[in-house]
Amino acid sequence: MNFDLSEEHQLLEQSVREWAAREVSPKIHDLDRQHRFDPAILPQMADLGLLGVSVPAEYGGTGTDYISLGLASEELEYVDTSLRVILSVHVGLNSLTLLVWGSEFQKEHYLRPQAQGRKIATFGLTEPAAGSDARGIQTVAVKKGDRYLLSGEKMWISLADVADHFLVFAWSDLEKKKRRDPSGMTAFIVERAFKGFTSGTLGEKWGILAGNTGFFTMNEVEVPDENVVGRPGEGFKIAMFALDQGRYTVAAGATGLVRACRDASVKYAKERTAFGVEIGRHQLVKEMIAQMESDYQAARLLWLRAGWLKNQGRRSTRETSLAKWFATVASERAAGDAVQVHGANGFSDEYPVGRFYRNCKGAVIYEGTREIHKLMQADYLLGYREDRPTRCALPPFDASVAGRD
Ligand code: CAA
Repeated sequence: MNFDLSEEHQLLEQSVREWAAREVSPKIHDLDRQHRFDPAILPQMADLGLLGVSVPAEYGGTGTDYISLGLASEELEYVDTSLRVILSVHVGLNSLTLLVWGSEFQKEHYLRPQAQGRKIATFGLTEPAAGSDARGIQTVAVKKGDRYLLSGEKMWISLADVADHFLVFAWSDLEKKKRRDPSGMTAFIVERAFKGFTSGTLGEKWGILAGNTGFFTMNEVEVPDENVVGRPGEGFKIAMFALDQGRYTVAAGATGLVRACRDASVKYAKERTAFGVEIGRHQLVKEMIAQMESDYQAARLLWLRAGWLKNQGRRSTRETSLAKWFATVASERAAGDAVQVHGANGFSDEYPVGRFYRNCKGAVIYEGTREIHKLMQADYLLGYREDRPTRCALPPFDASVAGRD
């Protein structure tokens, strides 16, 4: 067993860390306070190869392994959650799904420009009345000749007002919809430019304020058959597959947030004095900082294990769920304690920990709530849930072809 990162991994970690510290850190406070998504960040991420991380070079990506996606997620969320969210929806939920379930046409026409960062992609499963209950979506796809007409509304969609391509889930079999039989769902690629598609931004959220979150509606949007991802009826499995990659980025990202809370708390504890000593000398402050360190180390090992399984081409639904659950709950604990260590200053915007506190909560909810992951973990242990083989699976990382065109 080797716990060292490869030289390539260290280089990636370093380059993302330096870019985010140099280009994003100085302006993130203002972006956050102005509730403003900065689109200029996207071409910079593309130049770094981040929008094609873990996508094979033959489809325009960097040809790096799945651990690289986790490392990039951790480094991005160290600076701000909104950056990691871009990677989650664009690469984790969308591009890696097209890589595995998409046709050659879809890989050429959609995956390649996404991996090169020329087009931005996201994911549309959640609806106003269906989040955890993924079978409860209401969007329908009615077959008409060589196309489908999609109608419905998707909600809480990251990059809804920014993305060009949307991976959308809808019921294509209305009889199965009535019975909630998931084999009646189909996955589609929808372009913003398709007639009948409109989107908007949600202005009422109180966290991840430098990120774009919104909704989109489809009013009989015509989607050609060639944009069906996988086979008709495979949509639910494809959504769950996509979440295995999305949750992985959330786990690694939340790990970065724990580290950010830890580092900010260590710094502050050595600057601030109370009762005649640095506050780091007080045992109850030490306790909070020690907890952050144990949470960081454990969360990192959990997502690294999930990434290692992905590199081997092994199923990681269970391990990814555990990593996501643990890291997001740990980030909530770390952010709460980081504010506490900062005392009244933590309650002001002068320090970043208040932003960390507002940013951490979303991930305890999206991509499977804390409760959904608890249920999944218990069900695996009790034998009520098992992972059955699927028609398509994430390919193992093949170092011998990595990075080649
Ligand atoms: N990969 C491939 N196939 C999978 C799979 C996976 N990870 N998980 C399940 N499947 C397959 C199963 O094998 C099964 O097929 P077979 O019967 O043919 O084997 C089929 O899918 C149905 O699986 P389940 O019976 O496990 O499905 P379920 O209805 O019991 O799932 C649930 C329940 C786990 C709660 C699931 O609904 C779930 O994960 N809910 C949470 C949804 C979620 O995370 N939503 C967030 C959306 S993204 C977002 O938040 C917005 C954003 O912008 C990021």
